[in-house]
Formats: sequence, C-alpha cells, structure tokens
Amino acid sequence: MAKTVLVTGGTGLLGKGMEETAPAGWDIVSVHQRDYRLPGSRAEQLVLDLRDKRAVDALFAERRFDAVVHAAGIASVDFVEKNYAESLESNIVSTLNVTAACRRAHIHLLYISTNAVFDGAKAPYRESDPVNPVNKYGRLKVECERLVQETLKHWTIVRPILMYGWNHAETRSNPATWILEKLEKREPVSLVTDVHENPLFNLQCGRALWAVLDKRPEGIFHLAGGERVDRHRFGLAVAEAFGLDAGLIKPVTSGAFPGIARRPPDTTFVVERMARELGVAPMTVSEGLAAMRAARAPR
Ligand SMILES: NC(=O)c1ccc[n+]([C@@H]2O[C@H](COP(=O)([O-])OP(=O)(O)OC[C@H]3O[C@@H](n4cnc5c(N)ncnc54)[C@H](OP(=O)(O)O)[C@@H]3O)[C@@H](O)[C@H]2O)c1
Repeated sequence: MAKTVLVTGGTGLLGKGMEETAPAGWDIVSVHQRDYRLPGSRAEQLVLDLRDKRAVDALFAERRFDAVVHAAGIASVDFVEKNYAESLESNIVSTLNVTAACRRAHIHLLYISTNAVFDGAKAPYRESDPVNPVNKYGRLKVECERLVQETLKHWTIVRPILMYGWNHAETRSNPATWILEKLEKREPVSLVTDVHENPLFNLQCGRALWAVLDKRPEGIFHLAGGERVDRHRFGLAVAEAFGLDAGLIKPVTSGAFPGIARRPPDTTFVVERMARELGVAPMTVSEGLAAMRAARAPR
C-alpha cells in the first residue's frame, strides 16, 4: 500500500521539486493557501490556511499521514523584513499548528529551514555550526527550528540553500527564472558580487527530501550544490546555459540596493552529510542549469 506524505507549501519551488522526483509508493497531499489549482499535478491539492488551528486539526483527524514535510510560510526575505507581524503569524503560528498535530499523531516531521540562520561570516557552514541570523526571516526560521527540536520526538530539519528551477506560474520566481525573464526581454540585470552561496537545483532538493523520508535520519541536513558562486557569477552561468546575452548583466555590490534586508555575505554549505547519508551528489551550477534547461524545452 502506498504511503502518504503531507507537503505544506507543496505548490512552491521546493514542493514542485519533490513532486517531480517522487518515487513510486508515495502519494502526496499538498497544502497551499490561495485559491488556485495547478493543472496536471500528481499531488492531491488542498487549499487551507495553516494559521487556522481548527482547520489543521481537522485535516489530521480526517487523514492519516506517514510523514509531514513542512515547507509552507512566507519565504521572501524582504517581505518578512517589511511585514514582520504578518510574517510572524504566518511562519510561527503555522509551524506551531503543524508541530502540535504531528506530536499528537506521532508523525515524523521534516521541517524546511534555510541558510539564512547563519550570519555569513565563517563559511563554509556545517550542520553543527552555531546559528546567528542577520535578518528577521532568519530569526523566524531559528525560532521554528527550536520549536521543532524542543517539542517533537521524531524530526529532521533540512536547510536548503538558495534554490533555482522552474517554478509554477502561480508562485514566486527564483534567481534563475527571474534572470531568464529579464534577459529574454533584453532588459539589463544588476547582480551582486558580495553574496555567496552554493546554489541548489530544486530537483536535487526533491531527491534529498525523498531520501530523508526513506531513511528517517534525525538531526539537521544542509542541502546545496557543489559550487560556490556570487550572484553575478550565477547570472553569467544562466546566460551561458540558455544562450542569452551575458552583456546585459552588470556586477554591483549590495550597497546598490539600500532598501532591502541585510544578507549574510557567505553562507556556503558543507554538503558532506547530504552526499554521504542521503546519497545525493552535489551538482555544479552549470550541471544544475543544464538539467533545468533539459527539464523544459527552451521557450
Ligand atoms: N526558495 C529558496 O531559495 C529557499 C532557500 C532556503 C530555504 N527555503 C525554504 O523552503 C521552503 C519552501 O520555499 P519555496 O521557495 O518553495 O516557497 P514558495 O515558492 O514561496 O511557496 C510558499 C508555499 O507556502 C504556501 N503557504 C504560505 N503560507 C501559507 C499558509 N499560511 N497556509 C498554507 N500554505 C501557505 C504557499 O501557498 P500559496 O501559493 O497559496 O500562497 C506556497 O505553496 C520555505 O520554508 C523556505 O523558507 C527556500
């Protein structure tokens, strides 16, 4: 009999990566909050606001889940910085409701955190390194991590780094799709040279999450690609992979964007645990972008 996983925020980039790499033997129930349906999705899509405790409790009373992946929340760093009360409610209250339901039903929770828990001063980061967020989004994620660790028996925390891939039209773009859109319209793009990560292709993220659900390791996992780049170099790689004009991409520093939330300068992850324990090999940026290009015919 197939097992069932509940994926909160299942229509986002991470959820899409999971759906497209789903192994046989798993059914997906996906939750999002706004009123839309994704045609052609293999997940059963439910529209539910996770801030609503009664609705969350009713869902867990009606259905039996073998595992829960909690990815839902406001994930835009700048939105959280400017709309803290709303983000606090969305991210903390939702996580409280989901963890409480998992605790009562003794369900393994895979909580999706972020590289933004680190201050970026001492990369590369291992899972055991102390957290010290520099923006409000990172602080909320640290609180959610604590909530999971301190209230549940069966949990895994996964921290994906900056992710790229094809997002659903209804959900937010990511660095690759945003840069592609600009370059296709022949618009100039300014990208910073002072923020570094090892970016993660969303299908690789999906594969790693299925490996977690299969093996049920406890503790924290860092998920990232195999190559450290700054955002400007990432943009050049996007242009190269999709045959677009790299001349439209201009290097700048973070000072060019004074209105945005502070970013940690270098949150590059050590991905040994991902490779060794989950069996997912880190991809270079050009490998990930080539896989992205192959995943959909060029537009
Ligand atoms: N993308 C990255 O680069 C990245 C990097 C590190 C960590 N992460 C973490 O990974 C997770 C997934 O990120 P993502 O980029 O896939 O997210 P995303 O594309 O922004 O999608 C967010 C998802 O959460 C849902 N959601 C938000 N609030 C909800 C609520 N109150 N009730 C029910 N559903 C709600 C959204 O539903 P609607 O569409 O209906 O609003 C959507 O399905 C997040 O926890 C994020 O912090 C992401």
